[in-house]
Amino acid sequence: MKPWWLLLACFACVDAADLDNGEEINEVCAACHGEFAQGGKDGEYPRLAGQPTEFIAKQLRLFRERKRQNMPMLPHTEARELPDVDIVAIAAYIAQIKLSSKLPPLDKRMDALQRLMQTKKTLNIPQTQGNVSQGQRLYNKECRFCHGQKGWGNPAKAVPMLAGQYTAYLWRQVDKYRRGERIHDEDEPNDELLNDFNKIQLQALFAYLATVDDE
Ligand code: HEC
Ligand code: HEC
Repeated sequence: MKPWWLLLACFACVDAADLDNGEEINEVCAACHGEFAQGGKDGEYPRLAGQPTEFIAKQLRLFRERKRQNMPMLPHTEARELPDVDIVAIAAYIAQIKLSSKLPPLDKRMDALQRLMQTKKTLNIPQTQGNVSQGQRLYNKECRFCHGQKGWGNPAKAVPMLAGQYTAYLWRQVDKYRRGERIHDEDEPNDELLNDFNKIQLQALFAYLATVDDE
């Protein structure tokens, strides 16, 4: 138990015990999301690494309460499997994992295993079809306010990154918001921002987002 003054001083801070616990829980998640939460199978499993702690925790609660459907993850989020303390720990652990978008040059002193780890910690979103400059304009006008400059999210407001996320995953989620299976903006649940775009415009947005991690 932490002394009360520490709890007050450091309401949202994470201690080493949480991170240790998070690392252990991550062994379960890694089966699908990868050891470094880098996701895989071209977006079937989303990247989680570096997403805001509060965003990750919120999605886990939504899965657990079945407000967001996710059959593959259901057994891992039932209350017995993932109590609140574990949600806090795994979210904090995953949020602090840093992925690189470029593979560092080969260092001859490295052994094969170290190099393999580096490769797994590298995620670069391949370029997709679409008009990048149109996408950039749309992004800046309609999304940047919340998803941050260049799409890297806003941890203080629990808004996820869109840059560095698999394009196929983003498409799938936009479809879910459009069908009402997920709620995009809790403050304005009936907001239909994402319904206002046609396919060409969405393609442009995603084409732009796929370039952001190349810089
Ligand atoms: C059996 C495979 C599987 C396992 C194990 C698994 N996940 Fe997932 N997870 C998925 C799939 C599939 C999705 C995407 C669902 C969708 O398309 O909406 C997902 C989505 C998520 C999301 C939402 C991400 C976003 O950007 O919207 C979070 C957060 C998440 N998982 C966290 C975890 C954590 C933490 C664990 C370990 C406790 C875990 N997952 C274990 C398959 C899995
Ligand atoms: C008013 C703030 C706001 C604006 C503007 C906004 N978003 Fe979002 N977006 C959010 C929040 C908050 C979430 C997380 C919602 C949740 O819990 O599902 C989100 C989630 C998403 C996700 C799901 C990401 C994931 O990993 O699950 C996608 C895709 C997305 N937004 C796309 C867009 C696009 C494209 C635009 C611009 C056309 C946009 N958003 C504009 C606040 C916003």
